[in-house]
Amino acid sequence: PAPGWSIAADVVVVGSGVAGLTAALRCEAAGLTTVVVTKARLDDGSTRWAQGGIAAALGEGDTPEQHLDDTLVAGAGLCDEEAVRLLVTEGPDAVRRLISTGAHFDTDGEGGIQLTREGGHHRRRIAHAGGDATGAEISRALVEAVRVRGVRTVENALVLDLLTDADGRAAGVTLHVMGEGQHDGVGAVHAPAVVLATGGMGQVFSATTNPSVSTGDGVALALRAGAEVSDLEFVQFHPTVLFLGADAEGQQPLVSEAVRGEGAHLVDGDGVRFMAGQHELAELAPRDIVAKGIMRRMREQDAEHMFLDARHFGARMWERRFPTILAACRAHGIDPVTEPIPVAPAAHYASGGVRTDSHGRTTVPGLYACGEVACTGVHGANRLASNSLLEGLVYAERIAVGIARERADGGLRARVPRPVPYPETPAHPLLAPEARFAIQRIMTDGAGVLRSAASLATAADRLERLHAEARGALEENGKTAEPGVDTWEATNLLCVARVLVAAARLREETRGCHWREDHAERDDTHWRRHIVVRLNPDGT
Ligand code: SIN
Repeated sequence: PAPGWSIAADVVVVGSGVAGLTAALRCEAAGLTTVVVTKARLDDGSTRWAQGGIAAALGEGDTPEQHLDDTLVAGAGLCDEEAVRLLVTEGPDAVRRLISTGAHFDTDGEGGIQLTREGGHHRRRIAHAGGDATGAEISRALVEAVRVRGVRTVENALVLDLLTDADGRAAGVTLHVMGEGQHDGVGAVHAPAVVLATGGMGQVFSATTNPSVSTGDGVALALRAGAEVSDLEFVQFHPTVLFLGADAEGQQPLVSEAVRGEGAHLVDGDGVRFMAGQHELAELAPRDIVAKGIMRRMREQDAEHMFLDARHFGARMWERRFPTILAACRAHGIDPVTEPIPVAPAAHYASGGVRTDSHGRTTVPGLYACGEVACTGVHGANRLASNSLLEGLVYAERIAVGIARERADGGLRARVPRPVPYPETPAHPLLAPEARFAIQRIMTDGAGVLRSAASLATAADRLERLHAEARGALEENGKTAEPGVDTWEATNLLCVARVLVAAARLREETRGCHWREDHAERDDTHWRRHIVVRLNPDGT
């Protein structure tokens, strides 16, 4: 069916984490009519789960330049230095504006913001809230501000595809909405500025710190719309995720880097600290190095996990500083006050995404991206801990400024959208919801922390088979699966998984969070460059 309803606005923001809500608030404040659409409830995305905090040069003696240096080192030669410079210089004021918007950070007793350390940072520069509930506080403050300021929102609205006009400019999005009354079913928001802030794609792997909604919807939409996507092979695996068994699936509890920042040690099954000696920062090395250190030791000892030992914090510090993590561990029968925490790496963050410039503009005019869905160039081959909330803030604000300027210049005009094929095409057939689990297994087996040409080739074959089966069913029966949220999520996961694996096969080196067993060294001669992908209309 054609969209059954439509809303018109200047800006449609897709997603409601730190990036989406910041973009929406700043657009609305600039007098742009703004609609936020989000797949579940306003606070259901990844932002709410962020623990450690938000990095910015706020501490005495710290400078944006030092923050820049640490970010570039973590990014392993692939950061866009200018993009990082914008991030670290605009970051401190962006955090102050977030505070004016209503977010409360932990203070140091003298009214200053309390700062902690995390992997890759040579200084204490991570602001946190509620001890280890930073994302929840940011989400609370932004959701409240959106409500107070009357920004229009549509929840339970899964974005499907980009609408474009005859010149190929963004003209809005189509949506599938469930349970929102007048906006139920398939509809559209017509807007000349479309801001993607849909978050990540951690659900492409079996075990991840990401919530179930992180299914790569924005990257998949952008790929189908012909936008460029970059650096998808750089998936960050968080080193310390609570180990719940080798077969654990879906979202797993994070044990924040801040726990190491406050002095916890990584030890093996014999109680030996194995990161000391591997890097000058030991447990606080950039997270790719810590994840690799853990994986290596697990292999050497044929172990399923390592341990994070923070018994020396004592009960009071655990309760005050890390209440969320303490509760999560105890809920799984582990008491960090009296025993080391079993941990192993799990998929955490997509360092790549939809390619943008310094104002969040993608390669499709009128389509913007910010937050985890975007590849602004600040993360390079490996994001520095706690730079993601900051990136969401800073680049969302830059987008709002750019759109407001375009309106002032008379360039922001309503566009007439061309019809889009619904629900599926042979290039992008819908997948049955159960395919999600097959994709996750394929990706974990073949494109996880450790990859090789052989493992990636197997993953690629198995993904192609899933795609070919769906295409065959469509050609034979005129339809595949019943369109619905689960169906589109599985379809989006396959779309991003295929591109991720293709990029990982191409990159024959080890760099940042991309670890090839068969190409163990970093190769600056051939690979100090980005893999940029754009799909053809036939999906190839
Ligand atoms: C953490 O708290 O360890 C996560 C921080 C991040 O991913 O930036």
